[in-house]
Amino acid sequence: MVRVLFVCLGNICRSPAAEGVFTDLVLKAGLEERIHIDSAGTGDWHVGHAPDPRMIEAAAVRGIDLNPLRGRQVNAQDFHDFHYLLAMDKRNLSGLHAIAPQGLESRAQLFLNFAPKAHIEEVPDPYYGGPDGFEHVLDLVEAASIGLLNQIRTEHGL
Ligand code: 4NP
Repeated sequence: MVRVLFVCLGNICRSPAAEGVFTDLVLKAGLEERIHIDSAGTGDWHVGHAPDPRMIEAAAVRGIDLNPLRGRQVNAQDFHDFHYLLAMDKRNLSGLHAIAPQGLESRAQLFLNFAPKAHIEEVPDPYYGGPDGFEHVLDLVEAASIGLLNQIRTEHGL
């Protein structure tokens, strides 16, 4: 089983969107028995909360259901449990490096490493902005999800 964890700050906007989009891609590829997917936040404000209604709505328009997801905080054990810990921005990546067990730091990386053609390193936090921000998040997350699945298929022979 390949294990993938998406990480943002609150776990109510960007990382749930990534979890939903990547899960949809994995299901369509018939790889749901081979790839385990979860998301978490570096912060603890939204533990147990559903995703932001604006993110739920924007994802629903694209056929992605985020309603069942609930927020949780990332922890050091996640570095043992997941092969890929994919940070939405550099602040999240720093947060991950701060809790990484020795020797496992390299499991954390920026998610947009998998979308080189997007020419942007970070998924911008949409929380305090307008609806366009949520669309932008989904566009970036879709591009990186395709790149990530290709990489996993190559690396793990799936
Ligand atoms: P996310 O967005 O990291 O994409 O889930 C945020 C959600 C909540 C907060 C910050 C970012 N907040 O400060 O509560």
